[in-house]
Amino acid sequence: MELRVTCLPGDGIGPEVTSQAICVLEEVVDGFGHDLELDEKEIGGVALEKFGNPLPDATIQACLNSRAVLLGAVGSPAFDHNPRELRPEAGLLRLRQELGAFANLRPAVVYPALAGCSPLREEIAKGTDILIVRELLGGLYFGQPRSIEGAPGAREAINTMRYGEPEIERIARVAFQLARTRRRKVLSVDKANVLECSRLWREVVTRVGRDFSDVQLSHMYVDSAAMSLVLKPAEFDVILTENMFGDILSDEAGGIVGSLGLLASASVGGPVGLYEPVHGSAPDIAGKNIANPLGAILSVAMMLRHTFQLAKEAECVEAGVISTLKGGFRTRDLARPGARTVSTEEMGAQIAEFVRLAANATGQAAS
Ligand code: IPM
Ligand code: MN
Repeated sequence: MELRVTCLPGDGIGPEVTSQAICVLEEVVDGFGHDLELDEKEIGGVALEKFGNPLPDATIQACLNSRAVLLGAVGSPAFDHNPRELRPEAGLLRLRQELGAFANLRPAVVYPALAGCSPLREEIAKGTDILIVRELLGGLYFGQPRSIEGAPGAREAINTMRYGEPEIERIARVAFQLARTRRRKVLSVDKANVLECSRLWREVVTRVGRDFSDVQLSHMYVDSAAMSLVLKPAEFDVILTENMFGDILSDEAGGIVGSLGLLASASVGGPVGLYEPVHGSAPDIAGKNIANPLGAILSVAMMLRHTFQLAKEAECVEAGVISTLKGGFRTRDLARPGARTVSTEEMGAQIAEFVRLAANATGQAAS
C-alpha cells in the first residue's frame, strides 16, 4: 500500500518526537512491504516566523493531498502576546477544521511495566484502559460570538459554547461504535445541571444510545467525573465528551498513566486523519533530546490502524512500545529518581529495531 503522509513537526519538542515516529514508520513500511510518500510542512510558531501565518496555504494543501497527517506540537512562549489569530495554536485549530476532524480519540492505558509510574497507588492505577472520545470542532473553542471589548479596566470577554444536534449525534455514534470494539461501556460527561449545551448533549446521546442497546450508557457531571477518574480509573472504558471537557480530562488521564508524554491521539471523521501526541511543545525541554517520543510513536500506530486499516502493522508498533518499556527503557519523564534514562533518539531506535526484527521474523517483508 502507498502511505501518503504529511508530517508537521511544529514547535518545541515536536521535531524531535516526530522524527523518531517517522523512523518507526519507515521500518513498518520497509518491513511490511509498503511505500511511504512523505511530505514535510510548517505549522504553528515555525510557520509564523517563516510566513507570518500559523497555517500557510501550502501546509493545508499538502495535508489535503495526503491521507494522514502526523503533527508534533504547536505553541511557543514567543507568541504568547500575539492576537488569537496569530498564535501557533490558531494554526492547529484551523487545521482540525480544514480536515473536518471532529472525533478526537485519546487512549490512556496503564501499561503493566509502568504501573509503578502512576502517582496513584499501583492497585488503583493498574488495569486502567480508557478511551476518551472528545468532540473536536465545537463548543467554546469555535462558538461565535467571541470577543474582548471595551476600555481598559472595563473590558468584557465573551466565548460561546454552542452545540447543534447533528454535531452531538455524529460524535456519539463514533463513541458507541468504538465501545463495541472494547468493553461496551460509554460514559458521557457533561454539566447538564448547569449548561443548556449539556442538557441537549445528554438528550441526544441518550437517543443515539438506543441504537446501541448492547452498549451500556451512563452519564456523569464533569466535576464528578474528574474526581472518579483519579479514584477508580480502571472502571472507565469509553468517555464521550465535548471539546473543552475532553481537553481537560485527557491531560488528567495523562497524569494517571504516569506521563502525558505517553498519550497518542487520532482526530478523524473527515477525509484526512490527523495524528498527534497529546502533549504540548514543552519549550523548557526542547532540543535536549530528552522528550518522550512514545506519544508520537503511538500516534503512528493509530494512523496505521484508523487511516490505513493496517491492524497488524499498528499492533507491531504497539508491541514494540510495550516490549521496550518491559525492557526497562525510560525517558526522563518516566524514570524514578536516580534511575538510568535514555534519550529521545535511543527510545525511538529501540522501537524501530523491534519493528524491524518483528517484521522480518514473521516473513512479511516485501519480496
Ligand atoms: C490539545 C491541546 C490543544 C487543544 C491546544 C494546543 C490548542 O491542548 O490538543 O489538547 O486545546 O485542543
Ligand atoms: Mn490539551
